[in-house]
Amino acid sequence: MLTTDSADQSAPDRYAVLGNPIAHSKSPELQMAFARQTGENITYRAICVEPDHFATTVTDFFSTGGKGLNITLPFKQEACQLADRLTSRARRAGAVNTLYLEAGQLVGDNTDGVGLVSDLREHLHWPLRDKHIVILGAGGAVRGVLEPLINEAPATLTIANRTLSKAESLARDFADRFTIHTCRFQELTGPVDMIINATSTGLTGDLPPVATTLISGATCCYDMLYEQKLTPFLQWARAAGANAVSDGLGMLVCQGAASFSIWRGCKPDTFEVLRGVRGVD
Ligand code: ATR
Repeated sequence: MLTTDSADQSAPDRYAVLGNPIAHSKSPELQMAFARQTGENITYRAICVEPDHFATTVTDFFSTGGKGLNITLPFKQEACQLADRLTSRARRAGAVNTLYLEAGQLVGDNTDGVGLVSDLREHLHWPLRDKHIVILGAGGAVRGVLEPLINEAPATLTIANRTLSKAESLARDFADRFTIHTCRFQELTGPVDMIINATSTGLTGDLPPVATTLISGATCCYDMLYEQKLTPFLQWARAAGANAVSDGLGMLVCQGAASFSIWRGCKPDTFEVLRGVRGVD
């Protein structure tokens, strides 16, 4: 059990993101933007943690009065093990991106999925209910978003992956909530309402081998990656005639805002912060 020191009332509350590497994290910029917007008195740092030091860094942070942590690669699963208690969505995700203390217990939550769903609904206005949705990829990123996506009651959810067994394993793990279809990329048929790319192919400039017949003039295409220029998947989707495309920057903003809300009890205006980090103000 962890306890916090009695902190100076006038000192800002301390928050941080732990990861490795962490230098390019947008979390400090985002969280401080939320704090300015809502008038909350906090500090937020990015801390690079050596692989063997994760547990001690977390324990030291909270035992010296720290209020909350975001956790990013490669520590999301380890954070799951470390938490005294998990929210149901963190348990389902098998990964934790948000830690805080409650009644002396270290609580692990996961806001990745609600971040995606909030971006789709509130920023992009892409409907999910009764829609036919395809997810490309079956890694940790997909596991993290399935429960909130299922909660939106799509008509069908299909996971296509290079390694079929990983997609099948995800479908089994969520079978009590929803019947998820699985296949290889080449077996996908369409057109569908929405395609969400959660593979890491964009990092190497590649694309999953998906037929353009999946796309009609009504299809919305989302890439969980974000970069300055359009990702390879979104370039492909636009060239194939998709209705709309979006990268994952809004998901990042919304999952950060969800963590901020858990910690501070107030909801930031994510649209304003998203415009700021995109540099369109
Ligand atoms: P993350 O936590 O970001 O989901 P991950 O668990 O390593 O990362 O998953 C990466 C995903 O990208 C997987 O679905 C992976 O497919 P496999 O399960 O077959 O490995 C997918 N992926 C990575 N490189 C790929 C490639 N060149 N072509 C197709 N899919 C690829």
